[in-house]
Amino acid sequence: MSSPRVIIAPSLLASDFSRFGHEAARAHRSGAEWLHLDIMDGHFVPNISFGPQVVKAVRPHFSRVLDVHLMCSKPEILLEPFAKAGADHITVHVELGSQVTPLLWKIRSLGKKVGIAINPPTRISEVKPYLSKVDLVLVMTVNPGFGGQPFIEECVPKIQQVAAWRKQLGLKFRIEVDGGINDATAAECARAGADTFVAGTALFSHRNLGLAVKRMRHVAAIASKESGART
Ligand code: DX5
Ligand code: ZN
Repeated sequence: MSSPRVIIAPSLLASDFSRFGHEAARAHRSGAEWLHLDIMDGHFVPNISFGPQVVKAVRPHFSRVLDVHLMCSKPEILLEPFAKAGADHITVHVELGSQVTPLLWKIRSLGKKVGIAINPPTRISEVKPYLSKVDLVLVMTVNPGFGGQPFIEECVPKIQQVAAWRKQLGLKFRIEVDGGINDATAAECARAGADTFVAGTALFSHRNLGLAVKRMRHVAAIASKESGART
């Protein structure tokens, strides 16, 4: 089973907050397959970012996939507003414990793709029970809350483990990484089995976003081939 093609998802968190529509259009022109929206509630993480209104505002400017990452303690009250605003994917954190299963069902019932995210300190075994229920596993490579943080190397074995389970179980979920992703760490994560790359600082800091996206996609695709991650 070959691993899914490489997808690059610029994170709006690293964009110019004074002009979200312009930045989303720039991301669209760059050819990025997804636009990643980090939603922070100031409780699950010590920061507040933006809500459904911003998803609604950027929707007309990015016609491909809006990939919404909820770093929120009570996501059940947010699923419908984000679905209505135009989210295509909604990802919740495995750290929410007993809330997770009903949340995954609710996202599915809204007709959206379902993602589960895991923080660096959380044991990777926590996501195993959910693998057959999700379309996406998001392995955080920084502690959530802020862009521009350094990549946490210790997360790489977690990517390898999820990739091994995907192969053993014959599942097709995507493996997404988020935090400190640049060309070098994208290649490292691709070698470990990741196929979807969220990057904020490393992409939005470039005047030519299209070139930066193309380069990251290229290095990740080469690395994934070299490592035989395509089986
Ligand atoms: C952390 C955020 C960041 C953001 C990307 O909560 O999820 O990981 O998406 O940040 P960079 O790419 O700037 O590290
Ligand atoms: Zn994110």
